[in-house]
Amino acid sequence: MIIAIDGPAAAGKGTLSRRIAEAYGFHHLDTGLTYRATARALLDAGLPLDDEGIAAKIAGTVELAGLDRDILSAHEIGEAASKIAVMPSVRRALVDAQRAFSIREPGTVLDGRDIGTVVCPQAPVKLYVTASPEVRAKRRFDEIVGKGRAADFEAIFEDVKRRDERDMGRADSPLKPAEDAHLLDTSEMSIEAAFRAAKDLIDAALNKA
Ligand code: C5P
Repeated sequence: MIIAIDGPAAAGKGTLSRRIAEAYGFHHLDTGLTYRATARALLDAGLPLDDEGIAAKIAGTVELAGLDRDILSAHEIGEAASKIAVMPSVRRALVDAQRAFSIREPGTVLDGRDIGTVVCPQAPVKLYVTASPEVRAKRRFDEIVGKGRAADFEAIFEDVKRRDERDMGRADSPLKPAEDAHLLDTSEMSIEAAFRAAKDLIDAALNKA
């Protein structure tokens, strides 16, 4: 059983994916971390972010086991990740690793931007989780302030919109809902309500299998 969850940054897909994986005992892969880990390795080594050959080589060395969002959460890493994510050969290397992960038993939850459209188009359950840019920027803002750090709402809001444009506008694997994805708008929906909606779809798919 593969559950594919896509959507823009800060839509709530990470929280929802972890909740689903825990409830069903499935393995979870946050595919954004594979792009972040590649970007971080380039930054740490002082390598350029605009050389596709170098970036693809580094992407091929990313270990899925050691990915940690706390270590990879920095803003510059997210920005760098979305820049190298436009490169087809970087995507090919990371998609290969993501597909290998997706077939683990007894099931997997993968979240990202292109899971239902490119990585696992055969997934029996596809969710497209979204929320308005204002709501997503507010969530990011609250998260940073909650950690006791200073945050500028306008800057975060502009950042969210710029990241959306880059992710939705790229030629290779742009962020968009798969034709058979179920849309979940979490702007005014709690994580619990989103989980219940997802659970109904997953249970129906499991009963059919
Ligand atoms: O989800 P997260 O913000 O960590 O992802 C960082 C960047 O990685 C995204 O902005 C996007 O450009 C890229 N990404 C992608 N495809 C995925 C997951 C992430 O292109 N499946």
